[in-house]
Amino acid sequence: MRQSPMLEVRELTKSFATGGGWSRKHKPVLYGVSFSVARGEVLALVGESGSGKSTVARIISLVEPSEGGEVMMDGRDLLQAATVQERRAARAQVQMIFQDPFGSLNPAHRVGYPIARSLLLHGRAKRGEVRARVAALLEEVGLAPGAQVAEKFPHELSGGERQRVAIARALAVEPQLLLADEPTSMLDVATRQGVLELLGRLRRERGRGVLLITHDLTAARALADRIAVLYAGHIVETGPADEVLRHPRHPYTQSLLAALPHGDGRFLSTPAAAGGGRPPAVTGCPFAPRCPHAVAACAQAPETALIGLGHRVACHLVTSPPTSTEP
Ligand SMILES: Nc1ncnc2c1ncn2[C@@H]1O[C@H](COP(=O)(O)OP(=O)(O)OP(=O)(O)O)[C@@H](O)[C@H]1O
Ligand SMILES: [Mg+2]
Repeated sequence: MRQSPMLEVRELTKSFATGGGWSRKHKPVLYGVSFSVARGEVLALVGESGSGKSTVARIISLVEPSEGGEVMMDGRDLLQAATVQERRAARAQVQMIFQDPFGSLNPAHRVGYPIARSLLLHGRAKRGEVRARVAALLEEVGLAPGAQVAEKFPHELSGGERQRVAIARALAVEPQLLLADEPTSMLDVATRQGVLELLGRLRRERGRGVLLITHDLTAARALADRIAVLYAGHIVETGPADEVLRHPRHPYTQSLLAALPHGDGRFLSTPAAAGGGRPPAVTGCPFAPRCPHAVAACAQAPETALIGLGHRVACHLVTSPPTSTEP
């Protein structure tokens, strides 16, 4: 049985200004995005490039303001945090792990430094304990002996090791949710597996939630308990990972899975891989212009319907399939 959600994202909306002067327009990027993550659960948010995954992550981690919606964490809306203290407390609950393990560490600082800084900034250790805590955190992410690793500079570590340092820095704050935006996409295949296993272990050991943002369905398959599929700023399908991967119901999810190549298992987010290069529809079903099964009803936006245990889909063809007119 699924626990009550720890993180509940409700109806997030966001648009970005494009152009300038008279031609300035607002381009919607998120259209009411909702999903939840339970304690100890890994939710994979998957979707092609430009679908809005990182925008969701930046809003949840308070890097970017939303236009509408709520980010409820244990019953409080993080987006309402107003004072410096409230925002710091909100940020401490959600820690980001970024895609680029090279850019996320300052090359001038020994790797123990950002971890120590996080511990002190968030009041997680007293000065006298900091060294020992840094070493313990590095060992927790598989970098031993921690005291020696702490003294190294980022250039002395591999990409996978740097990503582990970034995870240790995130853990220093004792967050409830780890938010990992493409954490393995810049790592080689062998290293990727180790980092994913680490994230899985951290979730099991501490009952943390993990929001794994990825366009690597193999990573989602390996780690996620549930999957949410984002297409052009709309959640089109969510459900238990096994169910969504084995019985995808939304035509977009089906096209992603059909495009899954053999080998390292990453799917390509090229138009050819996901059903033609037409842009998403602004009204009605966003996927209709690319959907091989589109019917007249798709001019209307589909409701999201529950079609199985925790499995939700926003598609007319699934919720009210057209009756055949053939004799
Ligand atoms: N600061 C910004 N200003 C203008 N447009 C932006 C900005 N940030 C993102 N966008 C646009 O919002 C859309 C979603 O971008 P986002 O980075 O969230 O996608 P993504 O799903 O993370 O893609 P990727 O898989 O390539 O990382 C894109 O069309 C992008 O161009
Ligand atoms: Mg992104």
